[in-house]
Amino acid sequence: MYVAQPIEWTDRGVVMLDQRRLPAEEISYTYTDYREVAKAIREMVIRGAPAIGVAAAMGVALGVQKSTATTVEGFKPEFAEICETLAKTRPTAVDLFWALERMKARFAELVACKSELSTIREAMVSEAQLVHLEKKATDEAIGAFGAEYMPKDGQVMTQCNAGALATGGIGTALGVIRVAFQQGRKLHVLVPETRPYLQGARLTAWELHRGGIPLTLITDNMVGHFLKTGRVGAVVTGADRIAANGDTANKIGTYQIAVLARENNVPFYIAAPVSTFDLSIPDGTHIPIEERSSEEVTHIQGVRIAPDVHAAHPAFDVTPNRYIAAIFTERGVAKAPYTESLRALASAAQSVGVR
Ligand code: MRU
Repeated sequence: MYVAQPIEWTDRGVVMLDQRRLPAEEISYTYTDYREVAKAIREMVIRGAPAIGVAAAMGVALGVQKSTATTVEGFKPEFAEICETLAKTRPTAVDLFWALERMKARFAELVACKSELSTIREAMVSEAQLVHLEKKATDEAIGAFGAEYMPKDGQVMTQCNAGALATGGIGTALGVIRVAFQQGRKLHVLVPETRPYLQGARLTAWELHRGGIPLTLITDNMVGHFLKTGRVGAVVTGADRIAANGDTANKIGTYQIAVLARENNVPFYIAAPVSTFDLSIPDGTHIPIEERSSEEVTHIQGVRIAPDVHAAHPAFDVTPNRYIAAIFTERGVAKAPYTESLRALASAAQSVGVR
């Protein structure tokens, strides 16, 4: 089954598929400078929490590889600057910061071992590639746990794009749907278009269609109608950050889907890697919500659709834990009370790995 490849480390540089141009055009760029990678993340060439993390790890590796420093001591301030630049790209998805911390830890380890700069360059590239490989394994495991909860025959709804394009693997929410479909479950996916950036219409519809999974595209204001009348067996979405109590930030519009799912007795699930947990914050009120340009609301693909008025674009919203029936991770399934189940999964031994 077709799996999109949003990012790849190559000898020429970091290759990214431009997700802003999909589905009309499949265009890739090769980046050789970490600042270009940071710009690509900020401007949504690549998006989706885990894929942003992979991009950040590769951005760090690129920065280390291309540096003209001649000593490890001389390189340290530049390394801090590389990490800082990548950290400032998008604020909500915790995977970005998780990946940067991981790359910093590997760098510190190599410095502590008194490694040569040439060894550090190679090892940091390997670490970024490992992050990508692990994300692939993580998605497969999430898919296997979550597939059990999908209906045997019927409709499921998702939101935004939590597929291969968003992770670099098979996807989280779409990974669950894909595994369930491959197991023989007869699923039909309801795909809300996900205004204003249209990740549902442009990316999820494209991925499912290419993968041969039946779907129906709907506008965001049809969500309540279909949850009430559409015999939907489950909703499954991804996550950008999950607080210690299970409150979950995901693409704007997810909260209203969760509330409408509860109203209509449809189970609402989250599929996300453990790296999405932010146990340092007690609840969702502490999650920073990215505010993007109002032009993304007043314009569609560069065409103005509203007068020159003030428009708001919070890119994410927070779904309170009480609406979430379960959270599928690569280490198992968390259920309420989340404060306990998430802590247990976070400290559980890593169940997937490629090291
Ligand atoms: O603004 P985006 O497109 O990066 O937002 C993506 C989402 O909200 C996804 O649902 C989330 O990152 C999970 S991706 C597996």
